[in-house]
Amino acid sequence: AATNRLEAENAVVSQGVVEANHAGYSGSGFVNGDNVSGSYTEWTVTAAAAGSSTLAIRYSNGPSTTRTANIAVNGTVVSANRAFNSTGNWDTWATVSITTNLNAGANKVRITAANADGNPNFDYIDATTPGGGGGTVTADQLL
Ligand code: GCU
Repeated sequence: AATNRLEAENAVVSQGVVEANHAGYSGSGFVNGDNVSGSYTEWTVTAAAAGSSTLAIRYSNGPSTTRTANIAVNGTVVSANRAFNSTGNWDTWATVSITTNLNAGANKVRITAANADGNPNFDYIDATTPGGGGGTVTADQLL
């Protein structure tokens, strides 16, 4: 199965902005979601065939406190209150991975802040696509 890099700056952002004022990101920047519960970033992952996919979410969370988020695929929460642990500062990035089923065709992967601090900063999702399908987001890399 191919892995597709889906840059957060190409995703749909509700309550947040794309920025580039911290080091170490991939692409042209990262998403800084507003510090509010309910803000989200939503990626589209296209799979050539239905099946299991691993989504590796690259993020940064500078403060010492953990941030939590609900991860939904096509409107269904598949990982509730997922912990994004501190990375110590905003220039350090870590990965949270989940494995989930994707449909053939386009899938919406939405990460919604579940705490008042909002989401961590998001850099990208690396998604393995069942069947080796390509990504859909313009300018993303097929790795
Ligand atoms: C700081 C940091 C941002 C981050 C924000 C937050 O303002 O510079 O990149 O998104 O904190 O608390 O989420």
